[in-house]
Formats: sequence, C-alpha cells, structure tokens
Amino acid sequence: MINATASTPENDTDPLSAHNFERLCKFIKGYCGITLNASRRTMLEGRLKRRMRAVAIDDINEYARIILEERGPEIEAEILHLMDAVTTNKTDFFREPSHFDFLTKTILPEIAASSARHIKIWSAACSIGAEPYTIAMVLDDFCRKHSALDYMVLATDICYQSLQKAQVGRFPGSMVEPVPEHLLHQYVMRSADGSEVRMSPRLRSNIAFARLNLMDERYPVPADFDVIFLRNVLIYFDKPTQLLVPTRLCNHLRPGGYLVLGHSESVSRTGLPLHSVANTIFQRR
Ligand SMILES: C[S@@+](CC[C@H](N)C(=O)[O-])C[C@H]1O[C@@H](n2cnc3c(N)ncnc32)[C@H](O)[C@@H]1O
Repeated sequence: MINATASTPENDTDPLSAHNFERLCKFIKGYCGITLNASRRTMLEGRLKRRMRAVAIDDINEYARIILEERGPEIEAEILHLMDAVTTNKTDFFREPSHFDFLTKTILPEIAASSARHIKIWSAACSIGAEPYTIAMVLDDFCRKHSALDYMVLATDICYQSLQKAQVGRFPGSMVEPVPEHLLHQYVMRSADGSEVRMSPRLRSNIAFARLNLMDERYPVPADFDVIFLRNVLIYFDKPTQLLVPTRLCNHLRPGGYLVLGHSESVSRTGLPLHSVANTIFQRR
C-alpha cells in the first residue's frame, strides 16, 4: 500500500507541474530509455491518472513525488506499473512481412545447410506476443519439414501486462488476418463465434517469456542467438541509447547471426560489427 500525504480538494484536480513532468521524464528515460517530450505530457498525465486510481492517490504531483523520492519494495513495485503505463505496445502478426520472408528464404535454409541442429531466436521487445508467435509459426513449420532441426524462441519485454497477455496466447480474431492460411490452419484455434483465437500449445511450449529491461547493463540470456528481433523499440530511445542497446545485443549474437530492426530503425554507420544484408536486417561479422 502506497502512503500518500492527505490531498486537499484543490490539489485533486491540479495538473502535473512542469517541474514534476521534467523530473518524471528524466526518471523514466534513465529507467527504461523511453524519451518523452512536451507533446507526450497529456498522454503521460492520462496514463498516470489510471495508475493513481488503482492505488487510490488523488493528487498527481503527490504520485510523482512518491515515485521520485521514496524507496522501498512497494515503490519498486509501483515503478514497474509506471513502466507498464508509459510503454507503447502496438504490434501485429507478420508485421513488416519482408523480415519473415528473409527468415524463411535465407536464414533458415542457411542454418539447415550447416551443422547446426538447434535454432535460437530472441524477440527482444515482444509486446503482447504477436512477434514471437509469428516467429514460432515460421520456425515450427520449417522444422516440421526439416526433422533434424528444433527451435526455441525467447520473448522478453519490460512490460508485465504485455508479457502476461503474451503468455496466455489469446488474441482478438481480427488480429490474425495477416497470418497465411497454411499457418493459421496448423497453429491457431478459433473460438466458436470467431471473435477470439488461441495459439496452439505446441507453439506456446517452444517460447520462453521473461521480463527484461533493455536498459540493464547485462542481459542474462544466451550469447549465441541465430537471430535477434529488436523491432520498433529503438524509435522510443534517444541517439546514445539507440547505439547502446544494439551494442549490447551484439554480444548475444553468434558470428554470422542476424539483428532485425524495425523499418524506420538502423545501425548503419555506427561502427558495430554488423553489415546490412536486407532492408533493416544486419548480419554479425
Ligand atoms: C511498439 S512495441 C513493438 C513490439 C514488436 N517488437 C513489434 O515490432 O511489433 C515496443 C515494445 O518495446 C517495449 N519496451 C520499451 N522499452 C523497453 C525496454 N527498456 N526494455 C524492454 N522492452 C521495452 C514496450 O514495452 C513495447 O512492448
């Protein structure tokens, strides 16, 4: 239970002060890398107010003070909720489909032709799971045809609520429209009225979900991924962080492994040991 100092009728409706907005932005950026500018102030206030209702705090400046100035297990837990509130979790199945074409037509055949027997892919900002389930469908379908191969997908995100949804693997029926028919047929179960779908247990058993903050200095995950998907998250970070995170991720790619970014993201001309092999796909030297 978070202890707020008593609010007065006036401060119930006070907006977030400019000073507290600035301090919160700095705190959020340091914690999870997300850069908020003045245009995001209304968005932040709206999301904080939702959180404040959950913890029964009326005064937004008091909520900010608690987050910024108090410490202890309850505040640490509240900070995780705050991070859930500030992340943007938009995602889709087969988002940016050229990446999955490259995976199917170039990366997987290359692995099948090598001596490797186990494919390891990391979805490093997996949101509610559309990305790792898409990857798992493609891998599972490929491995069925190449019986000597098996696979695992690691799916991580900073947002607990998203990870919980991802783990359950239930989605609105309309979300799977981009999934090709032959994969839908194998891996997606539809509710009687078609309004909801569920990913097959077979896919779910091949995906490990975990919370991981890309701002952490070390990532407690294997060092030899074949492919890392880091899509549509660098856009929320500032320039130094846009370099820092891929630099750390390089340590988790095997030589010859691939880093896949979102279509508006790049690591070209950064000096990282990566070269471009397709649109926003980079290979580790
Ligand atoms: C727009 S979604 C992209 C989801 C998916 N990669 C895609 O392209 O469809 C961005 C995700 O990045 C996550 N994120 C933001 N900052 C993060 C951080 N510091 N560490 C890990 N995940 C983060 C958010 O929680 C959100 O789920």
